[in-house]
Amino acid sequence: MNRPGEIEVEFGVPIPGRILPREAWVQTAVKRLPEPPPLDLQRLFGRHAPVVVDIGCGNGRFVVANAVRHPEHDHIGIDILPVVIRYATRRGNQRGLSNTRFAVCGGFEFVTRWLSPQSTREFHIYHPQPFKDAAQRERRLLTPEFLVAVHRALEPQGRLFLQTDNPRYWRYFQMVVPALFDFAAHPQPWPEDPRGRTRREIIARSKRLRVYRATATARYFADAAQLEELARTLPRPDFDAAD
Ligand SMILES: C[S@@+](CC[C@H](N)C(=O)[O-])C[C@H]1O[C@@H](n2cnc3c(N)ncnc32)[C@H](O)[C@@H]1O
Repeated sequence: MNRPGEIEVEFGVPIPGRILPREAWVQTAVKRLPEPPPLDLQRLFGRHAPVVVDIGCGNGRFVVANAVRHPEHDHIGIDILPVVIRYATRRGNQRGLSNTRFAVCGGFEFVTRWLSPQSTREFHIYHPQPFKDAAQRERRLLTPEFLVAVHRALEPQGRLFLQTDNPRYWRYFQMVVPALFDFAAHPQPWPEDPRGRTRREIIARSKRLRVYRATATARYFADAAQLEELARTLPRPDFDAAD
């Protein structure tokens, strides 16, 4: 049970923001995404502000930290697993983060169905599951179609932040992402999060695994058909991710 004023610490690394008294808590869970889509972001947040989306947000460390640091931005964390979204929403609620929402949803479905074109300033994807078992490779999040959908949902010059500790997934990022984005590797830890930006980064670094980071800025395509062509022709993520 968290007490008001408390700073939460996970693996020795504080999570930004303080636990507020109960009367200042808010409701960050989106229990049901609207049907029919898309999401009306202005209505959801009650204002018009740049939107930051974390796909596969896990327990919400990055979303919560960024929402505390950037009250001028709105944030959405998505994960397919209800239990991690419960942790994330509790963190957002108890910090009074009115600029934050969390929902249970698959990343591909969320981007393709609920986000309108050019609606999003930034996407963040930290440590997508590599699915090392060959029978599960189909479940990998980063596919050419997914990248095209992310590109479509981004504002012009919008950015995608990517990170993994799986060297084969990293090689795949390097192979496909530059076809749609200006890709820049970022080998050092993010300056605001020197000990780790997410739970998985903190765990990976404690195991002395190398962490690969990149930022990718959406390139301009005059012809949407070019993007469709890339979705069809870029290599699929069917690499062997085993150690
Ligand atoms: C290795 S964890 C990383 C969590 C967090 N980003 C971090 O870095 O600590 C991968 C997360 O992606 C979620 N996930 C897996 N497939 C997904 C999908 N198709 N859509 C959304 N989330 C997914 C998992 O439930 C899990 O929480």
